[in-house]
Amino acid sequence: PAPLRLGIAGLGTVGIGVVKILQNHPDLIALRSGRRVQITAICARDRTRNRDADLSRYAWVDQARDLALRDDVDVVVELIGGDEGPARELIELALDQGKDVVTANKALLAVHGQALATRAEAQGRTIRFEAAVAGGIPVIKTMTESLAGNRIKRVMGVMNGTCNYILTRMQSAGLPYETVFEEARRLGYLEADPTLDVGGIDASHKLAILASIAFGTQVAFEGVEIEGIERVSIDDISRAADMGYRIKLLGVAQMTGRGLEQRMSPCLVPCDSPLGQLEGGTNMVVIEGDAVGQIVLRGAGAGEGPTASAVLSDIVELARGVRMPVFGQPATTLGTPQPARTAVP
Ligand code: HSE
Repeated sequence: PAPLRLGIAGLGTVGIGVVKILQNHPDLIALRSGRRVQITAICARDRTRNRDADLSRYAWVDQARDLALRDDVDVVVELIGGDEGPARELIELALDQGKDVVTANKALLAVHGQALATRAEAQGRTIRFEAAVAGGIPVIKTMTESLAGNRIKRVMGVMNGTCNYILTRMQSAGLPYETVFEEARRLGYLEADPTLDVGGIDASHKLAILASIAFGTQVAFEGVEIEGIERVSIDDISRAADMGYRIKLLGVAQMTGRGLEQRMSPCLVPCDSPLGQLEGGTNMVVIEGDAVGQIVLRGAGAGEGPTASAVLSDIVELARGVRMPVFGQPATTLGTPQPARTAVP
């Protein structure tokens, strides 16, 4: 079969991670895909930056949207980020040009995922986004493939590593929120707009995407009831610890008789439970299926290797020719509508 040809937009941490995996394991990827997978064209804001990878074999394009217009690109891999602007424009154009799309863009999908999926289906194409939720944890494919025979009852978890770092560190070092927040900033953990992390918005984007997959519904970020971690005090944490609990920013989505319930808030979890033991910048997703019972997935929710690993799973799936419809039906959502606040560019 003909090779699958990729155009990659965005050569930051994740983009370079994807390039490295394709360069380091071409035979493995070909074996798993049933054909070769190759990069033909790339695009990044700064062409001159040293990226610690040999990019000389690929065609550079000036504008991300040019990737969508090339005949030698079958799949556009969007790793620019941001819920508006070039990322959205690129994806829309790629779908309209009859190309499949792989993206890690949680903010974009949470708000415009439905429209993009409809656009893809109109062209007989698809948009895949394993990397958008919980980084390296293969949570979307676990639900759609491995748990395909289950009705999902509930999906919950810790989906923002930065908040988990802050809460864990407040607990273990006995430091106040403001001090640990500054520490997280110095370590480069925070998003450009930190409210996305500590306000629970980033985690809610992921929860809304997960819920749509779990329950076969349309993405409904506006229906997530959100409370961030800004008001969690060191006293709250030590009182919880006295009673055998940890405080975690927990996302919970379940289908109730009244509609889809999606909540993101600081919750008490028992110290000795898998969620209670989750430390540092890690993510955990707990899925409850009617046949399988409870599944716990734990791993890195961000970073070069883990996020690129998830992107590759989508690329291989497309190389195999798997093209599933993405989201399902509109659902009644519970919860107070959130302002349409998403990512900053
Ligand atoms: N800010 C996110 C986190 C990055 O801390 O989990 C990964 O989406």
